[in-house]
Amino acid sequence: MLNLGVLVSGKGSDLQSIIDSIESGYLTEAKIAVVISNKADAFALERARRYDIPAIFIEFRKRPRLDFDKDMIEVLKKYKVDLVVMAGFMRLVTQEFVSTFKGRIINIHPALLPSFPGTHGHRDALNWGVKVSGCTIHFLDEQMDHGPIIMQHAVEVKEDDTEETLSQRILVHEHNLLPLAIKLYARGSLEVKDRKVIIKEQLPGFMDTQALKHVRTS
Ligand code: GRF
Repeated sequence: MLNLGVLVSGKGSDLQSIIDSIESGYLTEAKIAVVISNKADAFALERARRYDIPAIFIEFRKRPRLDFDKDMIEVLKKYKVDLVVMAGFMRLVTQEFVSTFKGRIINIHPALLPSFPGTHGHRDALNWGVKVSGCTIHFLDEQMDHGPIIMQHAVEVKEDDTEETLSQRILVHEHNLLPLAIKLYARGSLEVKDRKVIIKEQLPGFMDTQALKHVRTS
C-alpha cells in the first residue's frame, strides 16, 4: 500500500479526485497518509478533514524557504510517505526537498509543458493565443515544471475562453489522469529513462471508469 503525501494550496479539486478514486475502489494501491498546505484557509484542508485524513498547515511566510521545506520533510517522514503528490501546491521547493524525495514527487500543471510553466499557465496560454492547451503530470526535478513527463491531455482553447472557463475544461482531465498516474506509479508501471517516462500498462483514467459505470449495457 503506497502512502501518499498530498501538498495543496487552494480549492483542492485535484485532491478530491484522489480521495474519490480511493473511495470508489478505483485506486486500491494507495492511501492518503497526510495532506499538507502552506495556506491555513485552503479548502483542500477541509476536504481532507471530512475524510479523517491528517490535514496539516505549515506557515511559510517570514521564514527561510529551507526551514519551511524541512518542516514538510519532517511531517512527510512522520507519516511514512512513499510518494509526494503536488496537487495545486503553489510553492517552489528547495533542492533539499527534491533530493530527499528524488524520483518520488509528481506534480500536475495546467498547461502543456514545456509551454507556460509557472503559476499562471492558463493566463499565459490565453495571452499567447494558443489553439490548444491542457494539463501535464510530471516527475519533479531540480527545476520548476521541468521533470520527465508522465502524461498530458490537450484541450481546445475557444475564442471566448477566460482563465475560468479554460481551467474548468482542463480540470475535468486533471481529475481523470491524476489518480491514473498515481495508480501506475504504485503498480511500478512507470519507467523513467532520461527524460522519457515509459508507461508499461494501459489502464483507464479514473473518470473514464466512472463514466463506464454509468453506461447501461443494452
Ligand atoms: C490545478 O489546475 C492544477 O493543475 C494547478 O493548480 C490547480 C489546483 O486546483 N497546479 P485545485 O486546488 O486542486 O482545485
